[in-house]
Amino acid sequence: MTPSLNFPRYGDKQNSPFFEDYLQQLLEERDHIGLTDMIHQIDALMITVEPGNSLAYVRELCLMTPYEYLVTLESQDHATHILRIDMNAPDILVREVKDPNTRGIFRSLNEVYPIGAYKPNSRYMGEVLRVSNLHEVVELQKSRDVRFFNQDQIRKLELPGNMAVVKPSPYTHNIVSYWERPDAHVRVYALGWSSIRDDVNAAYLDAKETREKLGIDKLLLPIDHLATRVYSQNREAAILEYLTLTSYYYWGSYDIADQNSSTNVTKSVHYANELECPAKVFTAANHPYFMNHLLTESPTEAFVRNFGPRLHHIAVAVKDGETNALANIDYVVQSLRDCGQKFLLDVIGSKEEGLKQIFSTASEYSSLIVEYVQRFGGFQGFFTKDNVAELTHAAGVEESLRALQEEAQL
Ligand SMILES: [Fe+2]
Repeated sequence: MTPSLNFPRYGDKQNSPFFEDYLQQLLEERDHIGLTDMIHQIDALMITVEPGNSLAYVRELCLMTPYEYLVTLESQDHATHILRIDMNAPDILVREVKDPNTRGIFRSLNEVYPIGAYKPNSRYMGEVLRVSNLHEVVELQKSRDVRFFNQDQIRKLELPGNMAVVKPSPYTHNIVSYWERPDAHVRVYALGWSSIRDDVNAAYLDAKETREKLGIDKLLLPIDHLATRVYSQNREAAILEYLTLTSYYYWGSYDIADQNSSTNVTKSVHYANELECPAKVFTAANHPYFMNHLLTESPTEAFVRNFGPRLHHIAVAVKDGETNALANIDYVVQSLRDCGQKFLLDVIGSKEEGLKQIFSTASEYSSLIVEYVQRFGGFQGFFTKDNVAELTHAAGVEESLRALQEEAQL
């Protein structure tokens, strides 16, 4: 049995007695009934985009990350492009809604938020987790009050038929899916009919060629972490819910007081290396928006009010080392800037502090930010508080600008 409570705790953020008590109970029970051992790594991430946007988004992802285009699954109302690095890192499924009038639960999650509503089909949907016994995992989760879409709903949503899909979380609005796959088997998605589309393949090859020409292809590593933003009052529930649904453990939380925010990290009990199974980070304001006038502003809460709870960024790791006398992350950012990619700030952090980080501007296709992170000399820490404060601030400034622009277009 893998003991989920046997990991060191980091961070300085105080949790409530409720959290500490139920964290212990939830993880002990999860280990005891065998769920921790039956649920393995994140096998795929699912992202949905507006009609006509998937080609450009595949190009963008294949330039900015090490992903390669594999195949497209065509179904009646969606085209789902599968991107892969290899079988040691999760796939990305980019799913384009074909008809702008298509309605459904994922669109509804965007529509009640003022900026989210502008791109109602664009959002990160959630993760697919590999399990060793699908039937048993689903029965155990149902007995713990986890709700699943039924088979008919999965068919109508045009999600792969070989998955059990949990309904969107009330705290993060993300889904988690389970599928059974022996570790030695390749990932196969039971959805529609598959083909390598000439237009998508051309976009991919174009991006790959640029990536290689710039010399960044050797420097980009798989995804390090996924960061979700939630309402302040949902911080502890969102973390505990994710631990209920996965085999992750609670790594710890840091208070980012000057941005009125906290960063809360969970990691896989099975994979110490994030590049094989990304860490899941939850960011929440320290107090709700209606306290801002009494205390201080809150970029994190403002994001959630504008977009809804959702994934905020995907962090891509950059190989440790230097290229042309620049830290690799500086080289990657400079190369992408020369190609027109914009970033929200300059690279922050230093070799001495252990890591450097930066945020890109949000993708116009998925609304997701790409973070680059380079760790120096095997630095184990997850971030520095100063870096997170600067990143949070920069994202907040950018988002206010976008809100003004969106309103001006009305
Ligand atoms: Fe991050």
